[in-house]
Amino acid sequence: MKILVIGSGGREHAIVEAVSRSPKAKKIYAAPGNAGIAQLAECVAIKDTDVEALVAFAKREAVDLTVVGPEAALAVGVVDRFREEGLKIFGPTKAATEIESSKDFAKRLMKKYDVPTADYATFTDYEEAMAYVRRGSLPTVLKYDGLAAGKGVVIATTMDEAEAALRDMLLDTKYGEGRVVIEEFLTGEEFSLMCFVAGSKVVPMPVAQDHKRAYDNDEGPNTGGMGAYTELPFVTDEDHAYAMENIMQRVADAMVAEGCPFTGVLYGGLMKTPQGIKVIEFNARFGDPETEVVLPRLKSDAVDAFMAVANNEKPTVEWSEGATLGIVLASKGYPGSYDKGFVINGTERVESKIYHMGTAMKDGELVTAGGRVMIVVATAPTLEQAQAKAREDIAKIECDNLFHRTDIGAKAFR
Ligand code: AMP
Ligand code: GLY
Repeated sequence: MKILVIGSGGREHAIVEAVSRSPKAKKIYAAPGNAGIAQLAECVAIKDTDVEALVAFAKREAVDLTVVGPEAALAVGVVDRFREEGLKIFGPTKAATEIESSKDFAKRLMKKYDVPTADYATFTDYEEAMAYVRRGSLPTVLKYDGLAAGKGVVIATTMDEAEAALRDMLLDTKYGEGRVVIEEFLTGEEFSLMCFVAGSKVVPMPVAQDHKRAYDNDEGPNTGGMGAYTELPFVTDEDHAYAMENIMQRVADAMVAEGCPFTGVLYGGLMKTPQGIKVIEFNARFGDPETEVVLPRLKSDAVDAFMAVANNEKPTVEWSEGATLGIVLASKGYPGSYDKGFVINGTERVESKIYHMGTAMKDGELVTAGGRVMIVVATAPTLEQAQAKAREDIAKIECDNLFHRTDIGAKAFR
């Protein structure tokens, strides 16, 4: 089979690698891919949101299956267009992607179907939103409604902060057309439960945890994710069963009932609060960097799984035992401004897996080319061993402009 993977990050590198382990994958393309992906696939210079060019490429090369990584491609309807052309594709339609792209859609769905989540209200008017915030308690959570690449959530701890954020979201045009979801602030351990979903058929992947803050001890600004690991000791079998029944399965059924059945990966961003497990957000795709620690544990055939879902069938999947732990190497300055083009040496001595996030080849050398540069993923019987192994391997990588967190996974074994 010929497989096309859309996207260019660490998530897509992990997808391409999982696909490359399948004997069914005779040829793999990535659009646009990256320097790491290029070792496993043929990279074609098509932007992930250039739907017509992607359709034309898939037809010309007689691609048998396309797997979509990024939400941006889903939100512009890449799945709808591929299906119109009779092309097989793994991912949700534009309408089903609303579960991620519209916070208001997701919240209304959860309320209607009694899925546990934070209380909320939606506003388009600045004065009404401020009045609501003044009546409530602090901290308060303000979410811009729309795709905002993780930048649309503000946790305001003072009235001044809330006012400034609401001004940005509703009075300035900084974020585009304005609508804000204001939520109750929840506390607890966060975790990611990704499931293969084909209509009402739901199959879970191992639970993972992201680390969103830039520095150790969850300090510093929010990022695209500085590391992740599986499994999570604080998510019990009972928690898992509860989340599957009352959150993931219920939402899959709700999407069918609402006339926009979901196919692809439904990502539950969940929190274990003192009042039980609640939804923080849904994503309509594989998480990044969770995918980089989850897919290495996929023992069964990845192409079979993606194909089954694309055909609206329940996939059969098998996972290996043990722990995986991934540490991101990011450019100094990230998530703020940073310089690119620093030479990276020593990756060939690394035994763990490396997934590239933002690298390039320049004059025959591997160089940094993004904020998050690569993720080093170790597998071991225990998390503690996996962390030690990842850190040992990171010490072999030489580059003048990288930093990483040293505490990924630590709260699971401290
Ligand atoms: P989101 O983009 O919705 O995932 O929000 C980004 C991050 O903000 C989440 O990963 C949480 O850490 C935090 N967050 C979002 N909603 C809430 C909430 N209701 N209570 C507490 N923290 C939240
Ligand atoms: N790891 C969070 C996300 O993929 O959105």
